[in-house]
Amino acid sequence: MASTSLPGGTWTLGDLTVTRFGYGAMQLAGPWVMGPPADHDGALAVLREAVELGITHIDTADAYGPHVTNLLIREALHPYPASLHIVTKVGANRDQQGGWPPARDPESLRRSVHENLENLGLDVLGLVNLRLGNAEGPQPGSVAEAFETLVELQQQGLIRHLGLSNATPEQVAEAQTIAPIVCVQNMYNLAHRQDDKLIDALADQGIAYVPFFPLGGFSPLQSSVLSTVAARLEAAPMSVALAWLLQRSPNILLIPGTSSTTHLRENIAGAGLSVSNDDLAELDKIGR
Ligand SMILES: NC(=O)c1ccc[n+]([C@@H]2O[C@H](COP(=O)([O-])OP(=O)(O)OC[C@H]3O[C@@H](n4cnc5c(N)ncnc54)[C@H](OP(=O)(O)O)[C@@H]3O)[C@@H](O)[C@H]2O)c1
Repeated sequence: MASTSLPGGTWTLGDLTVTRFGYGAMQLAGPWVMGPPADHDGALAVLREAVELGITHIDTADAYGPHVTNLLIREALHPYPASLHIVTKVGANRDQQGGWPPARDPESLRRSVHENLENLGLDVLGLVNLRLGNAEGPQPGSVAEAFETLVELQQQGLIRHLGLSNATPEQVAEAQTIAPIVCVQNMYNLAHRQDDKLIDALADQGIAYVPFFPLGGFSPLQSSVLSTVAARLEAAPMSVALAWLLQRSPNILLIPGTSSTTHLRENIAGAGLSVSNDDLAELDKIGR
């Protein structure tokens, strides 16, 4: 593995040390996260390059494809280096139309944990996020039954650490009355700032916040303010968006997705940009 030090340094999820610059594998599956990638070898190359460049945090889910990204990760990287931590999530299935129906009953969760173990080729999952809500975002409601099922699997030794995804602050608080969590993975980026308070509250507790869609996801971030600041810094807008997240709070971990080794390298270089306080204040206007 290269000794490159990645922007942002490291963070510890429970007892797992990961680089704050991680990699999100969702975009490696086919269009709309269904089926195999158009370029199988290209997908393997991106995963291998990520690890070669020093990334030790890969985010995935067995629902991607379904099963496609987990199998790609296994093909590209198994046996895994000891430093690499693969974070997966359970709580949603896929339907024929590419939808993401919830699957949070105990039986579905147990099956999904076993399928993740099988497809990733692991005996223990390092960190499992319980994926809540729906495609519209977090939805209110108790997490007790689903979270308790994952705690049971954790007690059986199949899961090391737990987190929540697509969760409301109330659901985070409820889960924490049941068992410790080490991260929350919700949608957040320069233009979607609904979790500002939650991020700060988690930072105070030493819990990681992992924004999904850091670059806007299926609708790439577009903002004249972002373009202006990026032009002033002679950087790509995507670089500024990632650098802003790293500077936003020390508990933010990045998992930008890409199917391109060129973009992967650009994103790593770009996330290390130093954004001045004046530029940060200007960028702050985008989502406020
Ligand atoms: N918990 C959840 O419910 C949930 C939901 C969604 C996602 N996630 C996780 O979050 C991760 C990140 O989300 P995401 O990948 O969907 O969205 P994202 O990171 O916001 O954006 C990825 C998109 O940006 C493009 N991109 C990346 N780098 C670029 C660059 N330098 N220049 C131009 N375009 C660039 C990619 O295209 P190219 O392939 O062409 O680079 C891809 O289309 C996922 O991989 C997944 O692991 C979790």
